[in-house]
Amino acid sequence: MTEPTAGRLQLGAAWYPEHWPTDRWPEDIHLMKAAGLTVVRMAEFAWSRLEPAEGKFDFAWLEQAIAGLAEHGIASVLGTPTAAPPAWLVQDNPASLAMGSDGRRIQFGNRCHYCVNAGEFHTASKRIVQAMARKFGPNPHVIGWQLDNEYSRVCYCDTCQAEFHKFLETRYGTLENLNARWTTAYWSQTYSTWDQIPLPVGAHNPGLMLEFKRFVGASYLRYQKLQLDVLRPHLKASDWVTHNFMGWFGGFDHYLLSADLDLASWDWYIGTGHHDHLTTGAIHDLTRGFKRRNFWLMETQPGNVNWSPVNNSLNKGEARAMAWHAVAHGAEAVLYWQWRSALGGQEQYHGTLIDQSGQPRPFYDEVRQLGAEFSVVSDLLAGSEVLAEVALLNDYPSRWSIEAQKHHQDFDYVAHLTHYYRPLATRNVAVDILPADTILSGQRYRIVFAPALLILDEARAGNLIEYVKSGGTLVLTIRTGVKDKYNALLPSRPPGPLAGVAGAEVEEYYALERPVPVHGDWFAGVSRQWAERLGVISGSCSLPVATFRASNGWLDDQPAVVVHAIPDQGTVYTLGVYLDEKAQQDIIDHILAAAGLRTIKTPPGIEVRTRLRPDGQEIHFIINHNPGEQSVRLPWPAHDHLSGQDVRGNTLLPPYGVLVLTRGEQEPQTARRAATSREAAPSA
Ligand code: GAL
Repeated sequence: MTEPTAGRLQLGAAWYPEHWPTDRWPEDIHLMKAAGLTVVRMAEFAWSRLEPAEGKFDFAWLEQAIAGLAEHGIASVLGTPTAAPPAWLVQDNPASLAMGSDGRRIQFGNRCHYCVNAGEFHTASKRIVQAMARKFGPNPHVIGWQLDNEYSRVCYCDTCQAEFHKFLETRYGTLENLNARWTTAYWSQTYSTWDQIPLPVGAHNPGLMLEFKRFVGASYLRYQKLQLDVLRPHLKASDWVTHNFMGWFGGFDHYLLSADLDLASWDWYIGTGHHDHLTTGAIHDLTRGFKRRNFWLMETQPGNVNWSPVNNSLNKGEARAMAWHAVAHGAEAVLYWQWRSALGGQEQYHGTLIDQSGQPRPFYDEVRQLGAEFSVVSDLLAGSEVLAEVALLNDYPSRWSIEAQKHHQDFDYVAHLTHYYRPLATRNVAVDILPADTILSGQRYRIVFAPALLILDEARAGNLIEYVKSGGTLVLTIRTGVKDKYNALLPSRPPGPLAGVAGAEVEEYYALERPVPVHGDWFAGVSRQWAERLGVISGSCSLPVATFRASNGWLDDQPAVVVHAIPDQGTVYTLGVYLDEKAQQDIIDHILAAAGLRTIKTPPGIEVRTRLRPDGQEIHFIINHNPGEQSVRLPWPAHDHLSGQDVRGNTLLPPYGVLVLTRGEQEPQTARRAATSREAAPSA
């Protein structure tokens, strides 16, 4: 029977039993069990098999699949199948189909083809979700639910436009207010009735564009709530509900959507090429930040995908290292997509564990190894979490505002944020990626990075000022404090309401044709894409610590980086630069050292991470993300839970090798310590 699962490290796959005759299922389940799978996700696209005609449900097959899995101790996660509304549904309710920005309905036959605001689609969604909830909510072998799949579609139909008008009316109250906030006197855009306001296609009024992004998120939020309201009353107390997000996808504010869910999860695919832990670690940390607790990796790539320019396979051992990387960043489950190649459908060539013939692919053995390893460390990891002392703020409205008006075609909000993440990850510093309105003072963060925090109001700025007053280190970057939440320019110089605490303001910003040299006290390099000429605010004790060198005349010898160490408070760095990688590492190293953060220098591709158990015990992960072997030096004797061996001193990691360590000495560890405490930890 199914074992209790709470807190256990889970290994699983997406299984679509509806693709196969039932007499094949026992063999599949046998192979799953042999691979060490503990959980299977089903039903997420099975609407036409669950409700073959309106109101006629066929749940027997799914019940049989859940029972078959449970007999072998495998738990089930169910997806609500709403990302795949069936042909009969859209034929009977044509307005259920989304409309593209070209005014044409989306053709049936792919996924996510629904209009998220269509009343008839809401009715149909409630019907299937309620019926599934009644049937499977009480099932002891179903441990959690995923709503829909990868929300993404933006619809431009008349229903959406009417809903957009209601949304704006609620937000702005009056047209006078809206016209003023959006400066619609510009180009005669003044609206005299709500229904004149278009759904923006392409470049438009910045206020309108930003609100449309917010509206798309609000539409999904409402639709998600509709599903939650019919699902939750039928669930067991231990059940959770999630949605599988897509990492840095920017279609909506993920913090908003996550708030109503119990668990955050995401789908991780590499596509062409290979895994770069300095970049992907940020997405795990982003997802962990959605609920500020551990998350599930709901889908990941077994070998290769089918949708990338080159669908190369991950190297042997690479996916295992990726799985441990996810766990080291707080994943409680790793599920491969998918179990077996379907003979038909759009994804015939996608990687799987079992091929079209029904036999395990070579990759299956790698999963089986993980299955054995997960079962060994599951109890050790139960309840453990990542405790970061560095926060990086992520703000969807700032991102959308910049994406609509890049000013430099190469400027990318996520790449810029990741430019701050990578040097931290290179030094093995744990980071929480959090919404920009997180209350920061009184928390454990010693440094807060706020990359391109373009949109600032008094409340948001006040929160950051409080944090600095409480002794924190705040790092401000280019494109900060430029606009209000309506996407209008603030009537002040950037960083607007943060200028006082920064002791600096931006006298001018420049999109760059070519890199500009920058020389500072702790680094020398160039600024690419962007430069901000800073001015020190008179009367403040701030100091320029870097200046631009000769470039366009305006920037020459002008302040590029300003530090404001406020007596009896914290420190604010204002970086008017977008530095090359070496200079960026140097300046971040300086900031980390000045704030007293412990860093661990490791060779390229070697990652060291820590999770902390509730009893205070630290679990260290050392992962070799390289296809070649690498030696690391351990500062203390340790026990490797994967090999079962004690290890000490110089230790050789094979290609994609992983160590899961606890310190060898059996010293009592009762105090709950921060994961980045200054105690010795593995270095390489
Ligand atoms: C995901 C999707 C899965 C599968 C996968 C293939 O985006 O959720 O259902 O299609 O891509 O890589």
